[in-house]
Amino acid sequence: MPTPAPKFGTLAIHAGENRDPVTNAHNTPIYQTATFTFETAEDMIQAVAEPLDHFFYSRTGNPTTAVLEKKLAALEGSEEALVTSSGMAAVAIAAMISARAGDHILVDEDLFVISREFFSKDCPAMGVEVSFVDVRRMETVQAALRPNTKVLFAESVTNPNMRVADVAELRRLCDAHALTLIIDNTFLSPYLFRPIESGADLVVHSATKYLSGHGDTVAGVLAGRRDDVRRGRFKLDSFGQCISPFNSWLLLRGARTLPLRMRQHNANALALAQFLEAHEKVEWVRYPGLASHPEAESARRQYSKGFGGMLAMKVRGGLVEMNRFANALEMCGIGVSLGDVFTLVYPRPKNNNLIRVSVGCEEIEDIVADFEQALSR
Ligand SMILES: Cc1ncc(COP(=O)(O)O)c(C=O)c1O
Repeated sequence: MPTPAPKFGTLAIHAGENRDPVTNAHNTPIYQTATFTFETAEDMIQAVAEPLDHFFYSRTGNPTTAVLEKKLAALEGSEEALVTSSGMAAVAIAAMISARAGDHILVDEDLFVISREFFSKDCPAMGVEVSFVDVRRMETVQAALRPNTKVLFAESVTNPNMRVADVAELRRLCDAHALTLIIDNTFLSPYLFRPIESGADLVVHSATKYLSGHGDTVAGVLAGRRDDVRRGRFKLDSFGQCISPFNSWLLLRGARTLPLRMRQHNANALALAQFLEAHEKVEWVRYPGLASHPEAESARRQYSKGFGGMLAMKVRGGLVEMNRFANALEMCGIGVSLGDVFTLVYPRPKNNNLIRVSVGCEEIEDIVADFEQALSR
């Protein structure tokens, strides 16, 4: 009987990993080296001529990072993956390999604030036109199309408003107009959703978040077809957005427990969302796993393993009440990142006093108790 293909949880641990060929070390070593040496000049000349097949300089390629890239490609279900110094590097590379001066990009209007900066300021400065649209409303996307439109960029679940994009529907539109579909899947991780299976051409992540999972490194990933990712590799080389071998190793260690952590994030966020929705001091809660979420049906259809660890909420009142609540939290921290085992809240006056909550992996009773006491003040 043929061996069945390994399941996601097994891939997270085993994919890409091999016993170290030099020392037989069980764990992938940190190849903390800038360069690599060769027996002969001829060997080096050949390596430099074939940069994708040899290690000679760690901006271009590094063995620790290469193991991580194989693991992440297996998790995304992509032909290849490229690890970058940050999520923003992955966003920028994805855009730069998909559009050039004179082209037009459609971007979802709700997205991570620095991605918005990149699309609204840096892309136009490079001669690329950009329009922001609500990707949940196909008629507005259609209306924004131009003859030179080449790309559609959206987050699978948006930061910070928790909107849900229907990726298969976006694929149909992209097929009809020959657009490259780029999905930022940071909020879900490949454990919950694999955009390539729904038709995305390229997937990007802030790997700083769930893929790493422990809030101890900044990193990014771009996954997709071999040729596209290879073009990304050359861009990374010339823009210099390589990750350090040590950060690759941290990410490698974190990615092995992605399924375990995501199951806890799912359960905790759903329970916290239900608690908050029933609380009199909370004006609204947005979590794709709640029936009250505007795209609840789309989320249920797309995410079979749960709805992730992110939610948005609003405390009744204004800025004063938002800050009073956040300041009263004792265990949960106030901070801008997410996808960590620690619960973090991000109060956002510029988004109508929305509070973004990254629900961690602590015991749910302790998270709820902290929110309850802070709301009672
Ligand atoms: C959805 C999303 N995409 C991209 C980024 C950028 O990632 P990084 O901070 O790793 O550069 C972030 C960061 O918060 C994000 O939330």
